[in-house]
Amino acid sequence: DRPWTVLGIETSCDDTSVAVVTSDRRVRALVTRHQTKQHEATGGIVPTAAAIAHSMALPGAIREALETAGIRNTCDEIDAVAVTRGPGLAPCLGVGLTAGKNLAAVLNKPLVGVHHMEAHALTPRLTQEAPPEFPFLSLLASGGHTLLLLSEGLSRHTILGTTLDDAVGEAFDKVARTLVLPWLPTGGGAGAALEQWAAHATGEYAVTFPVPMRDGRDKPASRLNMSFSGLKTSVFRHVQGLQERDPAAWAAAMATSEPSSGIRADIARAFQDAAVTHLADRLDRVLADTISVRKIHPTCVVAAGGVAANQVLRARLGDVAEKYGLRVEVPPPRLCTDNAAMIAWTGIERLRAGLVDPWELDYVPRWPL
Ligand code: KG4
Ligand code: ZN
Repeated sequence: DRPWTVLGIETSCDDTSVAVVTSDRRVRALVTRHQTKQHEATGGIVPTAAAIAHSMALPGAIREALETAGIRNTCDEIDAVAVTRGPGLAPCLGVGLTAGKNLAAVLNKPLVGVHHMEAHALTPRLTQEAPPEFPFLSLLASGGHTLLLLSEGLSRHTILGTTLDDAVGEAFDKVARTLVLPWLPTGGGAGAALEQWAAHATGEYAVTFPVPMRDGRDKPASRLNMSFSGLKTSVFRHVQGLQERDPAAWAAAMATSEPSSGIRADIARAFQDAAVTHLADRLDRVLADTISVRKIHPTCVVAAGGVAANQVLRARLGDVAEKYGLRVEVPPPRLCTDNAAMIAWTGIERLRAGLVDPWELDYVPRWPL
């Protein structure tokens, strides 16, 4: 009657990740190898190159995860293998899935194919002190996705709203690039840098950007959906205009590389305010609809993905949730960005429900929730 121990593998995008997780909610090991350096050189992710990088990094990551977890006899101590089946980049998924299937066959253990987005949604049930019970609502906000998701059970997730263009993290990244904000040594990429600059805003340089899709002319289809591309472009045009109108002021603003007050901080805050207001607005609408139209009362709101690290966003989401008597749960950053612990955990939830896959399982690059 000992807890199950599951080996998880995630290779859907550009992070090679392996984890060992137990059914009593312990992450015994999590090893994640980022490919950022390779992709900097090519200016983006080339799927075949990413797949080769996965195939090189994966064996070492598997060995390291098993050793970190203190697993001596893999066959006795690993009860199942869980691996991301999709959605994601086909060649990348193939590397992880093939490794997972072969391991399951060698060990003669059950194989569980996992939906990457379901894994994101179920993460708080692994990480939070009071694991959320179904139904709950999640905002998954990263560089790749911006989703408002209602989770009512295993394989029972409904997308209530999503971005119609850029992901919110992508918009943070592009605006940070427009403002030439150097990344912080503390990590978090361009989005974290933008938050730091925005914190130094004084408002002396008066600028605001319109909140996307706010007016009453919204088509019903976009009432719960989001858009960040227009906002990103407004910032870009504003900076371009300023550079032409007052090159000296822009040059002066560019004199520092440390987060500090001034034009760049004021623009960063104006962008962040509009983006955060947009997300908070949509959470408000989605909660109102879920409760009064669907007659479903969520147990809590989960905020996950890299953008959920943003303190201004968390505070605003907290205010909205509080109106409905709900808390906002935020999993720790290393478990709410792409990682294999969430894959292993979802494997455990599926095993509990008796859901096992055959060894000939194929990958599904485009896989709706
Ligand atoms: O979930 P994540 O680590 O990975 C992928 O998208 O693959 O999300 C990364 C995104 C990036 O766009 C990054 O700029 C953004 O999350 N991000 C932030 C903050 N920290 C990271 N955005 C806003 N505020 C932050 N503090
Ligand atoms: Zn993801």
